This record gives sequence, C-alpha cells and structure tokens, in this order.
Amino acid sequence: MKILVTGGAGYIGSHTCVELLNQGHEVVVLDNLSNASEIALERVKEITGKDLTFYKKDLLNIEDINDVFENETIEAVIHFAGLKAVGESVAHPLWYYENNITGTLNLCKVMAKHDVKNIIFSSSATVYGTPEVVPIVEDSPLSTTNPYGSTKLMLEQILQDLHVADEAWNVVILRYFNPIGAHHSGIIGEDPKGIPNNLIPYITQVAVGKLDELTVFGDDYDTPDGSGVRDYIHVVDLAQGHVDALKRLNPNDGVSIYNLGTGQGYSVLDMVEAFSEVVGKEIPYVIKERRPGDIATCYAQADKAKREIGWEAKKDLKTMCEDSWRWQSNNPNGYGE
Ligand code: NAD
Ligand code: UD1
Repeated sequence: MKILVTGGAGYIGSHTCVELLNQGHEVVVLDNLSNASEIALERVKEITGKDLTFYKKDLLNIEDINDVFENETIEAVIHFAGLKAVGESVAHPLWYYENNITGTLNLCKVMAKHDVKNIIFSSSATVYGTPEVVPIVEDSPLSTTNPYGSTKLMLEQILQDLHVADEAWNVVILRYFNPIGAHHSGIIGEDPKGIPNNLIPYITQVAVGKLDELTVFGDDYDTPDGSGVRDYIHVVDLAQGHVDALKRLNPNDGVSIYNLGTGQGYSVLDMVEAFSEVVGKEIPYVIKERRPGDIATCYAQADKAKREIGWEAKKDLKTMCEDSWRWQSNNPNGYGE
C-alpha cells in the first residue's frame, strides 16, 4: 500500500516508517520538522535500504496537504503529526487546539476531497484520565486533565463522527501507553528538545552525563514501592501495531479502537534499577514531591488488539532499556541539530 505518514520524521513516526518499508509498503512522509530532523528519514533509508518520499509541509496549510495528495496516489494515512507536551499544552492551550485540531481537520478535508478515507490515528492512554480500574480496557470511561489530552479525545470523537456521516471512512484509533526504546541499530530514537519531561529520556541523559540526577516524582503512591507505575512499550512493537492495524482499513470495518501496551506495569524505581543494570552504573536520583496531574498506576489490557489484528508487544523491559541506551550513548546530542 502507498501510505502517507504525517509526522513521519518524529520519534514514533520514523520507527513506523522502518516497519512499513520493511514489510513492502510505499511511504510518503509529510512533516513540518517542528519537532524532528530530516536526518531521521535519511537513517530510516539507511536501515531499510529503501527509499521514501518526503514533503516538508505543514498540516496548518491546507494547500500544502493538497499538493501531496495531487502528487501521490495515497491509499491510507497514518496520522502522527501533532504537539505532545502536556505541560506546554497547559501553558499554551491555543497552540495545541490549533495545531492538533485544525491540522487534523485540514488533513481530513483533503483526504475526503481525494476520496482517501482510511486513517490510523495516534491517540494516547491520556484519554482515560484517572483510571478507576486497571488494567484499562478500551471501553473504560474517558476524561482528560490537560489540553493535550483534550485534543486527543476531541479528535477521536471527530473521526468517529466522520464515519457516522459517511460509512466509507475506516478509522483505527490507537491509544499508546508509554513508548520507550529505539530501533536496534541505535541510529534512530527519541530526540527531545531541551530538558526532557518524560522519564526514560531523562534517565538516559543522566546516564550519559548530560543531567546530574533524576527526580523521582513521589514515593507515596498506592503502588508496591510508592512510585508511579506505567506500561512501558518498545517503540518498535508500537510501530508494528500500526502495520498490523492496516488490516482494519477495509470497507465496512468502521471505527476500531485499540490499546497498544504490554499489559505489564513497572514503577519509576523499577525503571531506575533496570537502566542501572544495562548501563553498568548507578543512576543517581532524589525523591521529591508528586508531579501535579500524575496518576498512581496506568497499564493496559491489550487483548483486543491481539484478538482483532493479531498484534502483541514482544520486547521485554531489558531490551527496551538496552535499545534506549544504545541510541542515547551513540548519539548523546540526538540528531545533533
Ligand atoms: P514527535 O514530536 O516526535 O512526532 C510528531 C511529529 O509531528 C514531529 O516530527 C513534528 O515535526 C510533526 N508535526 C507537528 N505538528 C505538525 C504540523 N502542523 N504539520 C506537520 N508536521 C507536524 O512525537 P511522537 O512521540 O513521535 O508522537 C507521535 C504521535 O503520537 C503524536 O500525535 C503524539 O501525541 C502521540 N503519542 C505519543 C506518545 C509518546 O509518548 N511519545 C504517547 C501517546 C501518544
Ligand atoms: C506523560 C503524559 C501523557 C503522554 C506521555 C507520553 C502526563 C500527566 N502524561 O505520561 O499524556 O502521553 O507522557 O508523552 O504528563 N517521572 C519521574 N521523574 C521524571 C519524569 C517522570 O519520576 O523526571 C515519573 C512520573 O511521575 C510517572 C512516570 O515517571 O510516574 C512516567 O512519566 P512520563 O514518562 O512523563 O510519562 P506519563 O506521565 O505516564
């Protein structure tokens, strides 16, 4: 299939391009490089030995999107492009509503115009808000605590409404838990700008000596060791989930929603210990107060994806840590821009 990957130069997008190319798909990337480097796409080509087509274009510019659809016979879209920093979304909600919502509306309008009605959308476990029960199943109650999460929930609704209005739309909504790790080659990975907000990039930057110590946000949660528990999933497993989800883009498949997680929760202190073992030295940390908005425990029930698209996460915690570390230690400055 010829697939348009929006946000394909980013962290999850670049890993998905690798899996798509390896499995015989043609890849067209649209990315404005606001949070990515074109070097990632060069490395995707290096890993796969295959070519892809890149358009440096912005979803906020509808003509930009139209140009791509005029030039390429797209069959399906995997839509990663968006802003994703929770704290930034609280400080600048309009950036998030404009980029994520308007960008997606523009994309869908152009898709409809060109009669391309197959879309896989990047959603997040953030749409479950503070879960009442774990593991989290897909039909758990939905709520959000920040503008970033609200954009995801609104976009899920918008895509479902499109299908209600026109059954030709096939929509797959993938709710990611906590993606970590990197391609085994160590040449593509997560390259956060500035000081990372998320746990694993922070730990790897401490391990590589760029940051002094990790702050563990709270040790008084109702969890086995008091620190927060999350469902960390290897980004290559996550990428494969998108290739498998293409199977659900058939006429009459309608809207399908899947959790992409491992079903296994690890605490912050578990992660510190796992990384220390892989790196071969202690990761220095201090325990401080909870981070506002954080929840105690979040992990998925991922059986539905296994049942319906034959996908399950395969890579274990040690592999996730080794692969994150290989990327960070080989590329201490990420893509170096
Ligand atoms: P990322 O920032 O690495 O990738 C997003 C890409 O979209 C970037 O390359 C950026 O340049 C591009 N982009 C942003 N706005 C654009 C626009 N208007 N036009 C064109 N390109 C634009 O993020 P990621 O971690 O790869 O996440 C990909 C998707 O998955 C996002 O939608 C994110 O919200 C979602 N998600 C990520 C996580 C996570 O932990 N990384 C968890 C849940 C959901
Ligand atoms: C966060 C976002 C979520 C988003 C995901 C991936 C919030 C509330 N949620 O999830 O919407 O989809 O990132 O981008 O921000 N921790 C520390 N020290 C640190 C960093 C994190 O102790 O320096 C802890 C956190 O308290 C949490 C765990 O590590 O218990 C994981 O945090 P993080 O990697 O930021 O992911 P989430 O908060 O789960």
